[in-house]
Amino acid sequence: MAPLKHSLLICLTVLCIILLHSGPVFAQQKPVFACDVTDNPGLKNFRFCDLSLGLKTRVDDLVSRLTLQEKIGWLVSGSEGVSRLGIPDYQWWSEALHGVSYGGPGTKFSSPIPAATIFPQVILTASTFNDSLFETIAKVVSTEARAMYNAGLAGLTFFSPNINIFRDPRWGRGQETPGEDPLLSSNYGAAYVRGLQRTDDGDEERLKVAGCCKHYIAYDLDNWKGIQRYSFNAVVTQQDLEDTYMPPFKSCVLYGDPASVMCSYNQVNGKPTCGNPELLVGVVRGQWKLNGYIVSDFDSLNEMFNSQHYTKTPEETAALAMNSGVDLNCGSFLRNHAQAAVDRGLLSVTAIDRAVSNNFATLMRLGFFDGDPSKQLYGNLGPEDVCTPGNQELALEVARQGIVLLKNTDSSLPLSPQAIKSLAVIGPNANATHTMLGDYEGVPCKYTTPLQSLTASVPTVYQPGCEDVLCGSAQVEDAKKIASTADAVVIIVGSDLSIETETVDRVNITLPGQQQTLVTEVAEVSKGPVILVIMSGGSMDVQFAKYNPKITSILWVGFPGEAGGAAIADVIFGQYNPSGRLTMTWYPQSYVEKVEMTDMNMRPDPARGYPGRTYRFYNGPTVFNFGDGLSYSQFNHQLVTAPTLVSIPLEEGHVCQSSTCRSINPVEQSCKNASIDVHLRVKNVGNYSGSHTVLLFSSPPQVHNAPRKHLIGYQKLHLTPQAEGLVRFNIDVCKHLSIVDENGNQKVALGEYILHIGSLMHSLHVVI
Ligand SMILES: *[C@@H]1O[C@H](CO)[C@@H](O)[C@H](O)[C@H]1NC(C)=O
Ligand SMILES: *[C@@H]1O[C@H](CO)[C@@H](O)[C@H](O)[C@H]1NC(C)=O
Ligand SMILES: *[C@@H]1O[C@H](CO)[C@@H](O)[C@H](O)[C@H]1NC(C)=O
Ligand SMILES: *[C@@H]1O[C@H](CO)[C@@H](O)[C@H](O)[C@H]1NC(C)=O
Ligand SMILES: *[C@@H]1O[C@H](CO)[C@@H](O)[C@H](O)[C@H]1NC(C)=O
Repeated sequence: MAPLKHSLLICLTVLCIILLHSGPVFAQQKPVFACDVTDNPGLKNFRFCDLSLGLKTRVDDLVSRLTLQEKIGWLVSGSEGVSRLGIPDYQWWSEALHGVSYGGPGTKFSSPIPAATIFPQVILTASTFNDSLFETIAKVVSTEARAMYNAGLAGLTFFSPNINIFRDPRWGRGQETPGEDPLLSSNYGAAYVRGLQRTDDGDEERLKVAGCCKHYIAYDLDNWKGIQRYSFNAVVTQQDLEDTYMPPFKSCVLYGDPASVMCSYNQVNGKPTCGNPELLVGVVRGQWKLNGYIVSDFDSLNEMFNSQHYTKTPEETAALAMNSGVDLNCGSFLRNHAQAAVDRGLLSVTAIDRAVSNNFATLMRLGFFDGDPSKQLYGNLGPEDVCTPGNQELALEVARQGIVLLKNTDSSLPLSPQAIKSLAVIGPNANATHTMLGDYEGVPCKYTTPLQSLTASVPTVYQPGCEDVLCGSAQVEDAKKIASTADAVVIIVGSDLSIETETVDRVNITLPGQQQTLVTEVAEVSKGPVILVIMSGGSMDVQFAKYNPKITSILWVGFPGEAGGAAIADVIFGQYNPSGRLTMTWYPQSYVEKVEMTDMNMRPDPARGYPGRTYRFYNGPTVFNFGDGLSYSQFNHQLVTAPTLVSIPLEEGHVCQSSTCRSINPVEQSCKNASIDVHLRVKNVGNYSGSHTVLLFSSPPQVHNAPRKHLIGYQKLHLTPQAEGLVRFNIDVCKHLSIVDENGNQKVALGEYILHIGSLMHSLHVVI
């Protein structure tokens, strides 16, 4: 959304903390709602306030009562109330990416709810590969959001989650996403939206709070070497669009049933996404049947006109956006220009009616027009439902499940607390607080820093080693002094929001400033194990540490949320056996020196030395890979069931019956139930209980420029030492194994597929 003003946010946070600690009691604010029949019995006569009528009847009644000017007031995020009808102002823009956030003007943290549970940043949550957990988090977030709404502190419409593919490690907002894989991103988005929106009474028309699948589409560049998202034209092939950029949005809409989809700032192939009828009316509404509203990313209509000069006049932009399918403008562009667009005959009142109907229908589903919220479902939620011990424990649990162990020479982790008389804790993120949250954060219930948590288990000595993560000049000598006498060393480095966030893409992907020097010199003088902990959103080129024998362990902890420090200590001391897996490729620095961030191509192009992107296409050198992640235990896989041949009988008259085909269309009737079972036995052959994620990849026949491999399923199971479990995958051949051809059409390739599970490989032939 808007460029976050960090100094302001920090001020707000500080203010909130001051308010919290000085503890003044404020009069409780009331939530905003319409149809307050207790206060104004005359409202009973309006059909839109009549709960016994159907949604469409109520919406039509409301729209029929509004003047054009009043309708235009409901096309923008700061909507204008209509007092003669008992409708208050409403601010549509609230955020809840990983906890209720102060990132939108619709939400404030103050008495009686000065803080909320802030979960790990999404990139870490995704590495749990735990679909039910994604939904559970969002359920807690929506409960806290409703409680804040009831206290007059938040809206009901949240512009979350962010499901753009993390295409390039430099992207400052990659941290907000579930990573680079379309399947995981698809599952994450749908689960998060369901968790936000679904009510406990099973009524699908009702919404607990409204979610939003954003930012549609091919948006994953903020500000790189002066190239701004506001005017960036993403040049995307039809093939990449269909098999990389679209799938998370398609799943989010089809399986999450969101109240909203947000179009992005950028252009795709020369057209702004918020002014592209094929993408909005055609795909989102037409093919995917969105039941809700399409909202523009903040001020993107203004950017269409002022930065992109896409139309000659602002009225044309207003008309283009609305005629393309935009219903709500985050910002004020439509308030200023919709009337003129109507006056010039560019925009019809019918289009405005459609838009406000979609917007009002969403608010009705949220209960906004049902009168006093305290008498409705969720009306009883209040401050006591926010930051509960259970919610805070869940934030800790997510961080534990997400942390990824990338190196562990000689089983140096876990450390035994009894054996450590002195632990040196070093690094600019060793005592991190706000940094642990990542962006789109809120005020957390409390912080548990790594240093505090490590100190709770063993005696520690601490040296930050750098003034901040920029680490302009490392204080190497002080750090070496404590490292050389300690039994073990934990060095916590990485980035923060000054290095990667909205409007800030990276140029380099090495550790910032002199952090590498600090780590190397400290490791050199250490006598015991050296544990390098990387706290960051995007990946870091830490080859130097991977290959340095003095550095015995590497942990990546993302931005681990308010309880992150406790999770880090739990992993280091073995109270929790790590099970997270990377959801993005870790490239060497040479990658970003060679590849332009603006290049949207997923597929390699050897002719121009372009290596491609993500584990699905890139086959150059990596630092770590998608799916990497160790455990303190070992797990064996054994195939139990897996066919070697699957035959798809073609219908009579199919063109492939008389010619040699490399692929068939999965629309064939015969394809409908071609499915195979892959079962495997997983055994924990180590000495620690733990969870293990089985990632099932397919390498399809190399036709149509297919991915070299892609994830087709994953399952996670928990096993005690020596225990076995059975993992069952049911693979729909035409759905899961299918690829996309050069024209963007789905195909099933014929020939040999290799299925991979860890180092186990299985050959499967798909024939006709
Ligand atoms: C670590 O951070 C906490 C929370 O901000 C603070 O209270 C504490 O003083 C810090 N510890 C050190 C040694 O700087
Ligand atoms: C990136 O790395 C190069 C080479 O090490 C260096 O010259 C440049 O200053 C770095 N840029 C930034 C923004 O850190
Ligand atoms: C596919 O499934 C349908 C419904 O389950 C069944 O009626 C049909 O016989 C199946 N077709 C094949 C080819 O197995
Ligand atoms: C498990 O513990 C036993 C006894 O301490 C040890 O001999 C064995 O090597 C351990 N196994 C693994 C896989 O670490
Ligand atoms: C997934 O998360 C839930 C909720 O924390 C947890 O109970 C479950 O054990 C996790 N699944 C695995 C296999 O670790």
